[in-house]
Amino acid sequence: MKKILVLGAGGQIGSELTMKLREVYGNGNVVATDLVPERLTQEIQESGVCLPCDATDANQIAKIVSDYKIDSIYNLVAILSATAEKNPMLGWNIGMGALLNCLEVAREYKAALFTPSSIGAFGPDTPLDNTPQDTIQRPKTIYGVTKVAGELLSDYYYERFGVDTRSLRFPGLISNVCPPGGGTTDYAVDIYYAAVKGEDFECPLKKGTLLDMMYMPDAIDAAINLMEADASKLIHRNSFNVTAMHFDPEAIYAEIRKHKPNFVMTYKPDELKQKIADAWPNYMDDSCARAEWGFSPKYDLEKMTVDMLDKLAKRLLK
Ligand code: NAD
Ligand code: SER
Repeated sequence: MKKILVLGAGGQIGSELTMKLREVYGNGNVVATDLVPERLTQEIQESGVCLPCDATDANQIAKIVSDYKIDSIYNLVAILSATAEKNPMLGWNIGMGALLNCLEVAREYKAALFTPSSIGAFGPDTPLDNTPQDTIQRPKTIYGVTKVAGELLSDYYYERFGVDTRSLRFPGLISNVCPPGGGTTDYAVDIYYAAVKGEDFECPLKKGTLLDMMYMPDAIDAAINLMEADASKLIHRNSFNVTAMHFDPEAIYAEIRKHKPNFVMTYKPDELKQKIADAWPNYMDDSCARAEWGFSPKYDLEKMTVDMLDKLAKRLLK
């Protein structure tokens, strides 16, 4: 059985990925950590080992890997796009610091390493329609720069030292457990919270801004499936395009209004977020992920909307 360490387990992805990993591999085999352990959900705190860990300190990671005989690390530590743009040094130091430490610890202890990349790894020179797996990556944000550097560094550690590094270029992730941490795609989560609370919603992106998106259960399955994939079938490693749907604000608004006809959305574009979103793909080609390890998401906009509204209503209106 695998012995897994999750870094940044208190965030949007970690809150759900950690519980799924415990379900698959057993509660006793998944150690959950975060810089701020209080951020870990009650469910995570009650179901297994939880520890504080600052991923910018390699010794802290190495001690946990050694103490718990860890063989797989899920590194979820980063500062998301819009927040990083307001403090670029922090974005670089956290994103790259955590990754470099993970790579070194993984090399020393022969552990496998998963680190998400992002649609943010693309930029205005990238073909934005049907964005190929292998294409121009010249992002203009510090978030994107860390993601491209991270992809290259992870491939380097695989080729140079044989570290089993794998990664996904996640699109905007939509979830109902932990609020997102300051990304450009957060609006597609926030809109559901507003609809369920009966509040009007001000959209920070303009009508017509197409972006790739994915519902969290598909993102989690994709991460675990990639880590379980037969290495001999992987032509790519860092990092795979993956997407489940793409839409603009008008389309998600229309879908929500099928269930909440009185819900009102208006537009108040945020200059920074709009600039970032305009340089990200309209939709990616994820055929390599499908061919090399069988990526196959289950949720489209319609199915996700039903589930989001149902789950949020149960939580927020009880
Ligand atoms: P998040 O901001 O919700 O969570 C990050 C977690 O890392 C937080 O709990 C935070 O406390 C923790 N953290 C921050 N600094 C730390 C440190 N020094 N040591 C240990 N923990 C620290 O982020 P997320 O949305 O869960 O994203 C996880 C990864 O997935 C990131 O690499 C992100 O770039 C990537 N990603 C996310 C999305 C998305 O839509 N959420 C999309 C594409 C890629
Ligand atoms: N959701 C993330 C962000 O907007 C994409 O990586 O930053």
